[in-house]
Parts: sequence; structure tokens; C-alpha cells
Amino acid sequence: MPEATKIRAVKGTRDLLPPATGLWQRVEDEARRVFAAYHFGEIRTPVLEPADLFARSVGADTDIVTKEMYTFEDRDGERLALRPEATASVVRAYIEHGLFNQGRVNKLYYIGPMFRRERPQKGRYRQFYQIGAEVLGSEAPSIDAELLEMLVLLLDRLGLRGCRLLLNSVGDSHCRPEYVKVLRRALENMQGRLCADCQRRAATNPLRVLDCKVEADQPLIAKLPSILDHLCPECRAHFERLQAELGQRGVKYELAPRLVRGLDYYTRTAFEITSDVLGAQNAVLGGGRYDGLSELLGGPAAPGIGFAIGLDRLILAVEAVGQLKPQEGLAVYIAWLGEAALPPAIELATELRRADWSVELDYEPAKLKKSLGTASKLGARFTVIIGEGELASGRYQVKNMATGEQQEVPAARVGGYLQERIGSTFFARAEIGR
Ligand code: HAM
Repeated sequence: MPEATKIRAVKGTRDLLPPATGLWQRVEDEARRVFAAYHFGEIRTPVLEPADLFARSVGADTDIVTKEMYTFEDRDGERLALRPEATASVVRAYIEHGLFNQGRVNKLYYIGPMFRRERPQKGRYRQFYQIGAEVLGSEAPSIDAELLEMLVLLLDRLGLRGCRLLLNSVGDSHCRPEYVKVLRRALENMQGRLCADCQRRAATNPLRVLDCKVEADQPLIAKLPSILDHLCPECRAHFERLQAELGQRGVKYELAPRLVRGLDYYTRTAFEITSDVLGAQNAVLGGGRYDGLSELLGGPAAPGIGFAIGLDRLILAVEAVGQLKPQEGLAVYIAWLGEAALPPAIELATELRRADWSVELDYEPAKLKKSLGTASKLGARFTVIIGEGELASGRYQVKNMATGEQQEVPAARVGGYLQERIGSTFFARAEIGR
């Protein structure tokens, strides 16, 4: 038979394998816990959406929609897209299910994969993961402040200190067009001095110039007028109240008047959090208000605000800081010697597993030395040894794999013995149910 060529994962996508996934679960658990404390409920929307959803919300002229979105024609001719982000999906679902009829703000969170055909590099993938949250139904600045407080708490729980919260207001449909005119005029005076991309943006979408990463352009960009000097009274009042409340809540931030986000739906509050432990892709999360989005998608007036954390980057940062440990692996390995020891080994494994312990045992007869080697490779905390002698005496050997210490314990007491030693510190049950 000719040798078959190997099929590899698609460029920019990757397999996440254990034990690395243990840290992902740990981070996701922490996020779910914090979201529950702030009374968010989980929403799960499809990965496939009508392509038009993103053209209308994220913006038909944005990089995400024009260059990065995976779109295709379904067999019946419908244009579909793999979601590049989930805010548009959440607002679609909010409208589709009439969630606005519930008479209160809706607080929703999601965890899942997103797709953008970007140039892959560390911290940037074509299939990546986001943990996001959206609050719909109110424009109160108190919501913006609460959301940012929640983010700071989550990052703190994950051991990520030294993150910077960059905050801006991008105005609304009243004041932003005026600001864009002022910006356009200022850019005309810089004609020929900015990079080629910026020359083009100056004509098509001047706000994007503020987002330019080219080093040589920065001194000129710093001289451009600031949107914060051009907010209308309503937007200014909103932004001032937000800042006052962040002060009350002890949330530290830096004003970033050049922060414009790469999606068109934003109004007023816009923010990003960066981490200095990441390299070029240092934005751990981004978000902001999108007060007109519901109407744009055919829904009622429903102001909203949200954020999305890049989970892949968050994990890189958590690993770099090294404070959070993955969920613990194996509690107990059971080594049995001789066929007669298999039934009691199975019985013990079942008993411990029913108590939510993580247990592994030999599936085939093995020598004790090999079993102990396997147990230590798997990181088992304890190994229970059941051989002929142990069967005869009804007392099993329990070996502490860290210290090498070994103790004889009556068979019926093994569960209790282990519970006393590792029960309270063992993660699998204790922490998840907290
Ligand atoms: P975004 O800034 O496009 O916003 O993405 C949020 C975060 O996702 C980024 O800060 C980054 O950490 C991560 N991210 C984006 N693209 C990639 C990629 N190719 N590889 C790895 N990570 C990536 C949004 O998606 C908005 N929906 C956020 C939002 C929610 N605004 C309001 N509500």
C-alpha cells in the first residue's frame, strides 16, 4: 500500500491537549465564578451566522469583514460566516428571543471559538477563543464601571497584576461626525508625511489613523486633535460619571484618547487591557459601548456594553506569571499484582471514583516497578499496592509518591486514610463545587 500523506491541522488553528487544557479549564472556571458573582448568565450562540450580521454590525469596511472573515455560500445559496466575534451574535439572539421584554438589563457571558483569517503568530490564531460578556438594556455609566470592576477582579484572581486598563470615549452619532471633520482637516495638513496605509485611511476612515502602529508616524499622530476635546455634553457627562465611579470602586485606569477600536459599532466608552508579559500581541481584552447596535440589527433601542478577553493570550499571560496552577491531575494510582488482585483493585477504584477522586489503575498485568514508574509519570499523589500478601492480610500498601513513605492500611480504611491526607487540598472536587 502506498504511504498515505499525513493530514495536519489547518494553518492558524491548533489542538489543545491535556495536561495544558487543565489550565484552560481552571481559567474558565474562575471566569464563570466571577461572572456568577456579578449575576451574569451564560449564552451559547452558533458558530455559524448569516454573513450579513457581521457586515452590518462590525462594519462592511473593517479589516475583520473585508479581509479576515471566513465566509462561504451554503448549498442553498445562503451566505454564511464563521463568527469572527460574538457581540453581534448576542445582540441578534437578544432581538430574536425578545429578551428586552424581561423588563430588566440582560447580563450574558460566553466562552467559545472565534475565527479570523489573520497572519498567525504567537498570541494570534485563525481559530482563537474568547471569554466575553455583554450587558444589554441600559446606558447607565454605573454598568460600564461595574463591568470594568469585574474584569479587574477576574485578572486579579488569575494572578495577573501589572495590567493596564486604557480608557477612552469615542463619542456618539452627534459628536463623532464633527470630530471626524476636524480630524480630516488636521490630516490634510500632514499630507505625504504619514505611512501609505494612513494616507489611505485619512481619506476612507480617518479614525483608523489613530490606531496606526508604525513607529515613525507616532510623533505626528500624537499631535492630532483628541476626541476627548470634542465630546458633546451628554457624552462628556457620561464619561465623567464613569470615571468618578471607577474612582469610588478603586479601579485604576489610564486615559487613552487615541484608543479607537477595530469594530464600527462602538459609541462612548471604549477600553482595552494590555499585559506587559505578552509580546507584540499585548491586548488581553477589548470592549466598549454599542448603544445603536440593536436598532442597526432591526431591534428596539437597547443600549449595550461588553468586552471580550482573548483566552489564548490570557493563558499565555497566566503561564508567564505562573501563579495559577492547572487543575490537579491524578490522586491515586492502583497497582495490582496477580489476577486475584484485579477484582479488589477495581472495587477500590470504583469506590474512590464515586467520591470524585481521580483514579487510574493498570489495565493489564504489570510488574510493581513498572506500575510505580507509570504512577509517578502520571503524577499520582498516592499509589495503592494490592498483591498476594496484601490480599491475604486484608491490608493494602499505600505509598506517598512525593515522600516515598509507605504505610499498611486495612482495605476498608484506604478511602478514609487518603481523605485525611489529601482530601482537603485535592482540587478536583473541593474547588469546582466551591
Ligand atoms: P476585539 O478587540 O476584536 O473585540 O477582540 C477582543 C480580544 O480578542 C482581543 O483583545 C484579543 O485578545 C483577542 N483576539 C482578537 N483576535 C485574535 C486572534 N486572531 N488571535 C487571538 N486572539 C485574538 C471583540 O471581539 C468585541 N466583540 C469585544 C466586545 C464585546 N465589545 C463589546 N462587547
